[in-house]
Amino acid sequence: MSKRFYLTTAIDYVNGQPHLGHAYEKIVTDVIARAHRSLGEEVFFLTGLDEHGLKVQQAALAQGKDPQQYCDELADIWKQFAAKLELTNDNFVRTTSSGHKAVIQSILSKLHAAGHFYKSTYKGFYSTTAETFLTEKDRLPDGTFDVSYGKVIELEEDNYYFRLKEHQQWLIDYIESNPNFIAPSYRRNEVLGFLKNNTLEDLCISRPATRLNWGIPIPFDPAYVTYVWFDALSNYISIPSAHGDPTVCSALNTTATASPAPMELWPADIQIIGKDILKFHTVYWPIMLKAMGLPLPKQVLVHGWWQKDGQKMSKSTGNVVEPIAVIDEWGLDAFRYYVIRELAIGPDGNWTDAGFQSRYGSELANGVGNLLNRSLTMIKKYRNGIVPAGSNQLQAESTEARARVIADYQTNELQDALAHIGGLVTRANQYIDQTAPFKVAKDPQRAGELDQILYTLADVCRIVSVLLWPVMPGASEKIQQQLGFSAFTGRFSEADVPIAANQAIGEVFALFPRKDIPPTKNRAIIA
Ligand code: MSP
Repeated sequence: MSKRFYLTTAIDYVNGQPHLGHAYEKIVTDVIARAHRSLGEEVFFLTGLDEHGLKVQQAALAQGKDPQQYCDELADIWKQFAAKLELTNDNFVRTTSSGHKAVIQSILSKLHAAGHFYKSTYKGFYSTTAETFLTEKDRLPDGTFDVSYGKVIELEEDNYYFRLKEHQQWLIDYIESNPNFIAPSYRRNEVLGFLKNNTLEDLCISRPATRLNWGIPIPFDPAYVTYVWFDALSNYISIPSAHGDPTVCSALNTTATASPAPMELWPADIQIIGKDILKFHTVYWPIMLKAMGLPLPKQVLVHGWWQKDGQKMSKSTGNVVEPIAVIDEWGLDAFRYYVIRELAIGPDGNWTDAGFQSRYGSELANGVGNLLNRSLTMIKKYRNGIVPAGSNQLQAESTEARARVIADYQTNELQDALAHIGGLVTRANQYIDQTAPFKVAKDPQRAGELDQILYTLADVCRIVSVLLWPVMPGASEKIQQQLGFSAFTGRFSEADVPIAANQAIGEVFALFPRKDIPPTKNRAIIA
């Protein structure tokens, strides 16, 4: 058994609406997962849902539904969303599943037995909206709390706490001696700054069942349920446990419930999250893992947030991007392409419809779409749809692009990968303009020259399709089909096998129909 390349997304709140931000995180993760499969690695990609908590309990109640039924209905919507994005996730975790609950209880029992928890009385302020306790530090100068906390009540309550302070210096040392643990580096600096300038407060890990019953009961005190974040973070190991991962199963004393063959998954290779949940993943989660005797993930990769038209997306003002509507109108490949091409993993992004349409027009329709269409239309017209014998006159550029793009995928520089593929496409489109095959075709004496040009174009289209696969699997497979290939594995190694002379190309159709002219199905755009 060899360890799989294991990567995870954050798990979404089941009662939220799937929007651009959720889609982005999942697509980024899917592109990385596919790129590693293209490299020939065995991959395990996990995404899923965070289903416990007061808000879910209250929303179910308001609709007169049993919370589980309420979650099941919403989970279907999220699963359809994942399918719409063509995610290649290997499992879909739900924190209300019995397997997950059993693992959380094992973790709690183990940590309790080892003395990591203590019970204490809390007296103070509590935000019902954020489901969190507030301290004096959270008060505004006028004594009130930020509106984002909603209704703040005074509360006196006994709860269980997880000792964090004693791990603070260890965590600082760990982050300092593992520079790639948190990426990008400015997020790492942010966490180090926080840890060096504050004393960690112990983490409250319970809620009384009388106040919150939609949670996982604490095994050593059934009057309490588990705090949602403790429950949610542990999804990243509850699924490895279900698959019989030896590291997790032996640390927690659990046994496999899912697959017949055990899989080696933990530690995760990359955990992809948004910037708002940095502290949970780089402070609480590492300390939880240490207490469990488990290694830390190799990397927490933190992406920025999308805005629309320079403003926070908000359902109430209607300022949102509806991924499903965009996909239905423009196609999944265009949507996946845009979010990856527009934004590197790290900074915040801004969606504008004009920006989307402009990239669609210039980079997809006029870029890769036009290259393919012009190339294949000419092979049809001048060579009866048969790839002539020749050699790739853009071999040096193709080889260089291939090396750069693969290196970009390996370092998660997905935006650069697309920019470098775009560079090869632009070069090939220029090559058509420079060599003017439509003129060469008029002179029978220059048939050999035309063969070279057409062969070069077919071969560059093939290389482009292989390199594009992680981001635009649909378009990549369509390019392959049009070139006449029948079996495509998506492996990067296929980039090294030149197209064969005499290969019959397939049916030619527009890959990215131009939107300024009414799209007609399967109509070739003439060169
Ligand atoms: N349930 C918690 C995560 C628990 S992980 C153990 C949660 N859920 S969420 O639904 O609010 O957010 C899920 C992910 O979507 C987070 O990584 C978050 O950063 C990301 N995004 C939510 N809105 C976003 C944008 N506008 N832009 C980009 N990503 C954003 O937090």
